[in-house]
Amino acid sequence: MGMAYKLEAYAEALALPFAHSLLPMEMAATALGTVEFVLGLCLLLGVNRRLTVGLSLLATCVLTALTVWIYVAEPVQDCGCFGEAITLTNGQTLAKNVVLLVAALCLLYRPLAMRRVVSERFAWLASTYAWCYTIALAIYTLHYIPVLDFTPYRIGVNMRAAFDNPEQAEAERLPVNFYVADTQTGDDLTWEILADTSYTFLLTVPRTETADDGCCDRINSLYDFCQDRRYAFCMLTASDSAGCADWKDRTGAAYPIYMAEDTEIRAMVRSNPGLMLLKDGRLVWKWGNNELPDPYVHGNNVAQWFTPSGAAPLLRLVLWFLIPLLLVVIIDNVLVGTKYYRHHLFKLHLNKQKAMRKKIVAGNWKMNMNLQEGVALAKELNEALAADKPNCGVVICTPFIHLASVAGVIDSNVIGLGAENCADKVKGAYTGEVSAEMVKSTGADYVILGHSERRAYYHETAEILKEKVNLALANSLEVIFCIGEVLEEREAGKQNEVVKAQLEGSLFDLTAEQFAHVVLAYEPVWAIGTGKTATSDQAEEMHAFIRATIAEKFGKEAAENVTILYGGSCKPSNAKELFAKPDVDGGLIGGASLKVADFKGIIDAWK
Ligand code: 13P
Repeated sequence: MGMAYKLEAYAEALALPFAHSLLPMEMAATALGTVEFVLGLCLLLGVNRRLTVGLSLLATCVLTALTVWIYVAEPVQDCGCFGEAITLTNGQTLAKNVVLLVAALCLLYRPLAMRRVVSERFAWLASTYAWCYTIALAIYTLHYIPVLDFTPYRIGVNMRAAFDNPEQAEAERLPVNFYVADTQTGDDLTWEILADTSYTFLLTVPRTETADDGCCDRINSLYDFCQDRRYAFCMLTASDSAGCADWKDRTGAAYPIYMAEDTEIRAMVRSNPGLMLLKDGRLVWKWGNNELPDPYVHGNNVAQWFTPSGAAPLLRLVLWFLIPLLLVVIIDNVLVGTKYYRHHLFKLHLNKQKAMRKKIVAGNWKMNMNLQEGVALAKELNEALAADKPNCGVVICTPFIHLASVAGVIDSNVIGLGAENCADKVKGAYTGEVSAEMVKSTGADYVILGHSERRAYYHETAEILKEKVNLALANSLEVIFCIGEVLEEREAGKQNEVVKAQLEGSLFDLTAEQFAHVVLAYEPVWAIGTGKTATSDQAEEMHAFIRATIAEKFGKEAAENVTILYGGSCKPSNAKELFAKPDVDGGLIGGASLKVADFKGIIDAWK
């Protein structure tokens, strides 16, 4: 409420049209306080560090600009940053904001250097709790009165002593400016009120225009009660005589209305209207408009209308905030420490990486189908995928003679086209060979190299493949490079060694930029065309090994980005399980790519 008043003062200085409607100010004050508090907590706990730092810097920039204006134009005497708890001069406020701005800029430089107190997994819980806590507290405070009172009008203060000794009162932050005058005569009534040894009820209405008159019946019956008991009852307002007359009209007020200073009334009770009870010059209690006492309910003994709270409210507020938060931090830390949780986090990490990689289902037609059959198949696949868009990249690799014709019937935005091989020479007298440049000229963008069948039947060595890879890349083709062990090698437990040698022999002379145009395909030779598939765990184990090998050579980023396909008797029935593995990014499909239904079944495994 104090902040809402402060915003009202700012709006007034800027002559904003809504300066005198309190509700938007209350909402703005709640929003400002809540955002500041949650951002502060997120900074302390290292929650969403980049976003938090960005928003903190933004907030600090806006608020610094505001304090520059306050410093130069002096629209208010105190910025209101800390409410009544700490008052700063406009110069001090500006200095404070400059320091905060520098601090925010430092954080911007290296936000991720901030330590995370709660793990990423539980960060939302901590920030959600902070949001809920702050908003709930703001609503509670607006509905009633502030839980902590930093104004000079605190329950228990001796206002008479403060009046008697203003110097000491100033030093102790007691009410020094309490001044009440008769609306008609202008007579000073302050002492009369403070000298009263019995109960005095002061109804505080800073502005009658904005006051909530919904509680006027309760106020009137309270006034009747005071009349009966001979307790003093009066209203204090800063509104002019027209405003007072209007209040009387609206509420039927019969009690005397006196004048007091606007800011003082607002500080007395953070509610409009509010009620303050004095006895023997001492402020004994105060109520907001939503909790006014009712003699019919609370009885005739005024002393029983309120119960001084037990434990210190500040401590209660802090504990209500800290205990649940500490629980989150402790549970989080205990969980993070467990093996299960680490494993879970690691899996999440892998899945996140996987989500960033390109997924591909590629068909390898091998030496199947004549030109007409091949074109018909490509057309059919194109139609099926146009009707039902795939969730992954789709490539078909066809014999050379099909390429140009197939390129004419497929939508290159949906289906990529590739060859199954290319020559290890640039051009010239190499009868029967097809160069990478020729492949590219058909409209194809991919080429399969190193397939086990070519290694086995056409004696393609690592050296030859190295040449082919270089020529393919030089002609802007994406290379689908196949690797994999034969059965004897697996039985001898040498699969890792074999695969690593294949990678080293043909790809390790590439630069990281060149390697970015390579897709790897792990095809255990014993699973190709045999109906025998590697289990998804076997596939994952090898794919993870391949990725680790790539990381060693080309760095972590290249390894995280490289697409690794699985090939070898991949069918619609097993594709889903294989593709679910964190390091399997799709498939290189032989037999099943020759039927649209089967190939599409595998493509749909990504859905
Ligand atoms: P199959 O899918 O027919 O086993 O063939 C796999 C393959 O070699 C793809 O290149």
